Amino acid sequence: MPSKRIAVVGAGGFAREVAWLISDIAHDQSRQKLAATMEVAGFLVSDPTKVSERDSDILGDFSWLEKNHVDGLAMGIGSPEVRLRLSQELKRRFPRIPWPALIHPSVKYHESCQFQEGVTIGAGTIATVNVKIEEFAMVNLSCTIAHEATIGAGSVVNPMAAISGGVTIGKGVLVGSHAAILQYISIGDHAVVGSGAMVIKDVAQHTTVMGVPARGVPRAPLKSANNLEPVPNLTLSPASRQVI
Ligand SMILES: CC(C)(COP(=O)(O)OP(=O)(O)OC[C@H]1O[C@@H](n2cnc3c(N)ncnc32)[C@H](O)[C@@H]1OP(=O)(O)O)[C@@H](O)C(=O)NCCC(=O)NCCS
Repeated sequence: MPSKRIAVVGAGGFAREVAWLISDIAHDQSRQKLAATMEVAGFLVSDPTKVSERDSDILGDFSWLEKNHVDGLAMGIGSPEVRLRLSQELKRRFPRIPWPALIHPSVKYHESCQFQEGVTIGAGTIATVNVKIEEFAMVNLSCTIAHEATIGAGSVVNPMAAISGGVTIGKGVLVGSHAAILQYISIGDHAVVGSGAMVIKDVAQHTTVMGVPARGVPRAPLKSANNLEPVPNLTLSPASRQVI
C-alpha cells in the first residue's frame, strides 16, 4: 500500500520538526499495520527568494502544487499570524488538498477531545477531557492542556506550557515555552504570553504579557491578522485524526 505524501509548508527548524512528527506517525501506523501510512514529500515556501542557509532544500513555491500531486499539507511555521494567513491562502488556492491533524503517537488524550484540520500536537503532550483545539493551531512538545480548555485557530502553544482547565485561548495567540495559564482565564485574539509567564488574570486581545505574575503592554493590532477571513470549521472524526 503506497504512503500518503504530505508536503510541509515552511522549510525552517519548525518545518523539520513537523517532518519528524510525520515520520513518527508513519512508523507508528506501520507498526499497527494500518492500511495507509504517510511520508514527507518535501518542503514548500511562499517566497523562495527568502530561503536562508538555515532552511532545508525546498520543492519550490506554492505553485509547485499546481503540477504535482500530494495527499495532504502540514503547516510547518511557528508564527500564529503566518499560520493563519498561509492556511487561508492555500485553502483558497488548493481547496481539495486536505490538512490532516497530526498528533504524535505519544500524545495522551481522552476521546472527548476535538482536534480540527491542520492541528499539530508534538510528542509528550497530554490533553485531558473535552479539550478543543481549532484549525491550524499547534501545541508543541510536552504541554499539558486540562479539561474543557479551548485553543483558537492558528494559535501556537510552545514547549512545556501548562494550560489549566477551562482556559479559553483566542485565535492567533502565541503562548511561550514554560508559560502557565491558571484555570478559567481567557486570552484574547492575537495576544502574546511570554516564555515563563504565570497568567493569573484575563489577557485582552493584541496584548503581550510577561513575567510572574504576568503583566501586560498593549500592542498595535497586526494588519495581517485584521484582514483575515474566517476559516471554515471542520471537525474530524476520531478515526480520521491521523490518517487521510
Ligand atoms: C514575550 C516575547 C514575545 C517578547 O519578545 P520581544 O517583543 O522581542 O521582546 P524583547 O526581547 O525585545 O524584550 C523586551 C523586554 O521584555 C523582556 N522580556 C522578553 N521576554 C520576556 C519574558 N519571556 N519574560 C520576562 N521578560 C521578558 C526583556 O528582558 C526586555 O526587557 P527590558 O526592556 O527591560 O530590557 C518573547 O520574549 C517570548 O517570550 N517569546 C516566546 C518564545 C518561545 O516560546 N520560544 C520557544 C520556541 S519553541
